[in-house]
Amino acid sequence: MNQGIVLEIANSGKTGIILRVGNPDNSAMPNFIPGQYTALGLESEGVESTRAYSICSLPGEPFWEFLITVVQGGKVSSSLAKLRPGDTIFYKPTPKGNLILQRSKDYKNLIFVATGSGIGPFRPMSYQFVSDDDFREKKLIVLQGARFFSDLHYREWFEETASKGGFDYITYTSREHSSSRFGRVTDWFKNAELDPSATAVYLCGNPDMVNEIKEILVSKGFDSSKGGNIITESYW
Ligand SMILES: Cc1cc2nc3c(=O)[nH]c(=O)nc-3n(C[C@H](O)[C@H](O)[C@H](O)COP(=O)(O)OP(=O)(O)OC[C@H]3O[C@@H](n4cnc5c(N)ncnc54)[C@H](O)[C@@H]3O)c2cc1C
Ligand SMILES: NC(=O)c1ccc[n+]([C@@H]2O[C@H](COP(=O)([O-])OP(=O)(O)OC[C@H]3O[C@@H](n4cnc5c(N)ncnc54)[C@H](OP(=O)(O)O)[C@@H]3O)[C@@H](O)[C@H]2O)c1
Repeated sequence: MNQGIVLEIANSGKTGIILRVGNPDNSAMPNFIPGQYTALGLESEGVESTRAYSICSLPGEPFWEFLITVVQGGKVSSSLAKLRPGDTIFYKPTPKGNLILQRSKDYKNLIFVATGSGIGPFRPMSYQFVSDDDFREKKLIVLQGARFFSDLHYREWFEETASKGGFDYITYTSREHSSSRFGRVTDWFKNAELDPSATAVYLCGNPDMVNEIKEILVSKGFDSSKGGNIITESYW
């Protein structure tokens, strides 16, 4: 693990924090492919506790940004929430993961589906989608679900990027009526007409959401095998 430094930390909604990590000597953080995750670690009494977190910053930014749900009683996330600028944090300099656009290069339609902090990796992926010419002919829909409106992390960034970049951004809140649709992201799939031969779906966040939507998609002819057109990352 490399030693990093906390540059900024801020709340996001009722349950999230946004944490920016940099190098102590101000050098840029390592490159990553949009959608990848790394490990963050804290040292307590000589023992390092690490957990996986998706990188949410945009390619070219010198820091790494993370969106983290503070789990009640959660060992690492609740300790991360107590960090302050200047504190030491450890990070793995070699990000990895399957949630990358390379996996869907043969598909014309892309759908990103997130619950909770699962929206994080879709930020750099959506940025790549709008800024890279390879995606000019493709269509993207981003579906984001949260319990409450304030927990629709990065909502303003997605609204602005979607309107400029020409993709659809649809939000759901399940425990509060708001300007979003009321319900769960799963609801969108019930009546959706999808062409499995032309569509790839990325699912990220709550494992129950990942499994339920995967089942719906398989019943519509999608392929959940490795290398198929359902690409998932379950956070627990
Ligand atoms: C590939 C990968 C990428 C991940 N990226 C992120 C990320 O970008 N942001 C993030 O917040 N988490 C992410 N996670 C989850 C993260 O690694 C930790 O599991 C989480 O922070 C809880 O750690 P903890 O020590 O606080 O809780 P623990 O004491 O280890 O308790 C774990 C319990 O916390 C709950 N939980 C775990 N993660 C979440 C979550 N995200 N939202 C709600 N409840 C949760 C589950 O009930 C789980 O059983 C990722 C996990 C994986 C496998
Ligand atoms: N968000 C809060 O205000 C709050 C408050 C107290 C504690 N917590 C703690 O925070 C963590 C959860 O935070 P979170 O709200 O980010 O994550 P979450 O529990 O995964 O909820 C995020 C969204 O996913 C939805 N969801 C859950 N299961 C689903 C499924 N099978 N299919 C589709 N959608 C599904 C939820 O709907 P439902 O609302 O219908 O479940 C909600 O809209 C937990 O550890 C929890 O104990 C959060």
